[in-house]
Amino acid sequence: KLDSDQLIIDAGQKQFGATNCSSCGMVYSADIPEDNFQHTQFHQRFLDSIKYVGWKKERVVAEFWDGKIILVLPDDPKYAVKKAEDVRRIADNELGFQQVTLGRPTQAKTFLFINTDRLVVGCLVAEPIRQAYRVLEQPDENKDMTKDDFMERHRAWCCSTIPEQALCGISRIWVFSLARRQGIATRMLDTVRSTFMYGSYLTKQEIAFSDPTPDGKLFATKYCNT
Ligand code: ACO
Repeated sequence: KLDSDQLIIDAGQKQFGATNCSSCGMVYSADIPEDNFQHTQFHQRFLDSIKYVGWKKERVVAEFWDGKIILVLPDDPKYAVKKAEDVRRIADNELGFQQVTLGRPTQAKTFLFINTDRLVVGCLVAEPIRQAYRVLEQPDENKDMTKDDFMERHRAWCCSTIPEQALCGISRIWVFSLARRQGIATRMLDTVRSTFMYGSYLTKQEIAFSDPTPDGKLFATKYCNT
C-alpha cells in the first residue's frame, strides 16, 4: 500500500505510480510486486464472478442482439442464487456497500444482463416497497469545491420528508465498467418495469432508487426525466 508521503524511485519501470484497472476497477501500483500480486488475485476472482456458464432452466425475461436478461429469484436452485450473490458482491464492492444482505431477501428479484461473450455485465436488484422520498435539488453551496468533488465525497442527498407512493425499489444497479453507456442499465430497468408485477407495466414514478451514487443519480435523472 502507498501512503501519500511515501516516495517511489524512478528506475525506469514500465508502469509508474497508481494504476486503475479498467476492468476490475482495482487501484494498485504495478511497480510494487505485492500490489501486483493482490491485483492478479482480485482480477481473477472478479472474472470468475462475472463468468456465466448458464443453466438449463434459466428464466430469460428479455433478449437483445448483444445479450439477454435473466431473472433469479430467492427460491431458485442454489447455483443460480450463488451466481446472483457473486455478482451482487462485485457490485456492492464497487458501490462501497458494506453488508451483503438485502433489506427483504425473500422478496428480492435479481436481474442479470448476460452479453454474447457469456459474461454478466449488468446486475439489478429490485424489491417491493410502498413509499419513497424524492431527492431534492441540491442548493449551490460549497463554492470552493467543484460540484463533482462535492457529490463524489458526500453522496448524501437531501430528501423530501413527504412520502410518495412507489411499488418497486431499485436497491442496486451496476454495469461492468467496460460495458457502460450502451443502454444496458436502461434495458434492465425497462425489463423490471414490464416484469416486476404480473400483468402491469410500472410507470417511471412507481420505481425508486435507494441511496443513489453520483453515477446512479445522473442515470436515474436521465431515465426518469426528472
Ligand atoms: N454520467 C452522465 N450521464 C450518465 C452516466 C454518467 N456516468 N451514466 C448514464 N448516464 C445517462 C446518459 O444520459 C445515458 O445516455 P447516453 O449514453 O445516450 O448519453 C443514459 O443515462 C442511459 O445510460 P445507460 O447506458 O443505460 O447506463 P449504463 O448502462 O452505463 O449504466 C450505471 C449506468 C448503472 C449508473 C453505471 O454507470 C454503473 O454501474 N455505475 C457504477 C455503479 C453505480 O454507481 N450504480 C448506481 C448506484 S445507485 C443504486 O444502486 C440504487
